[in-house]
Amino acid sequence: MNTQGLPATDPQALLEAVLASNSKTANSRLKQILDSAIRHLHAFAVEADLTPAELDIGLDFLVAIGKASGPKKHEGILLADILGVATLVQLRNARLALAEGGTEPALVGPFWRAHQPRRADGECIASADTPGPRLTVRGRVTSLDGKPLAGARVETWQASPKGLYENQDEQQPSMNLRGRFETDADGRFSFVSVRPAGYPVPVDGPCGELLAAQGRHILRPAHLHFLVVAEGHRVLATQFFDSEDPHVHDDVVFGAVGSLLKTFESDGQGGFAIDVELRLQRGETKLPKCPLP
Ligand code: BEZ
Ligand code: FE
Repeated sequence: MNTQGLPATDPQALLEAVLASNSKTANSRLKQILDSAIRHLHAFAVEADLTPAELDIGLDFLVAIGKASGPKKHEGILLADILGVATLVQLRNARLALAEGGTEPALVGPFWRAHQPRRADGECIASADTPGPRLTVRGRVTSLDGKPLAGARVETWQASPKGLYENQDEQQPSMNLRGRFETDADGRFSFVSVRPAGYPVPVDGPCGELLAAQGRHILRPAHLHFLVVAEGHRVLATQFFDSEDPHVHDDVVFGAVGSLLKTFESDGQGGFAIDVELRLQRGETKLPKCPLP
């Protein structure tokens, strides 16, 4: 026994002592989360047979994640993304809606901007000099029972056919390939754009080193983002993916799930078209944190 009365080599007794130290946490939800984290962290250290040097490497990695983060970049979010935790949490959070046919959610990601321009129905969100095949998007917003949601706010943003968001590309005008639409009385909206391309996630920080150490590629398949806000409904953040993209089945952030894959149909004039359905669950309308001004 050591001075606290613990058997020196008994992981179970140590775990119980640490859990007991958490027993007075006043916030019951925080206590539940900490209990679970402590149990899983201890099990992880035992299963991986972690050495003190390896623990130090892991802790230094967490410090590097913090140092690489700032107002314009949140490396911690990227870590949750590339480990699939962000997608897991989002899908679990939407499980009741999914059981009733709600649209699958997907990550908001780091490129949504707070003041995307309001656009008229049918408007083109691409500047005249944006190269690439034309893409027509037609959408409908409904509640889970199929009732159209009129006056819903539909935000969209996407990368260019070169795989760059406008805020990463000096050749695109500000707010290119972004828009905010409002649904009509039948819950419908439409816009014209260009076919997006896939792109790499930022790899200039510790997440880039981790991906390299894992021997993974760094690409997201081509997609369009949507964020839909309708009164009395939970906000839906999702993405629709080009089913022909070579990485549609191995998205580096695991966001490209089954029902969000779309065939970009030929419009017969050299362009493409997609139809999207956005089905929202009733509930509190709470916007996610916006990553960019
Ligand atoms: C995005 O889809 O914009 C994105 C999501 C996660 C990491 C990087 C980009
Ligand atoms: Fe994206």
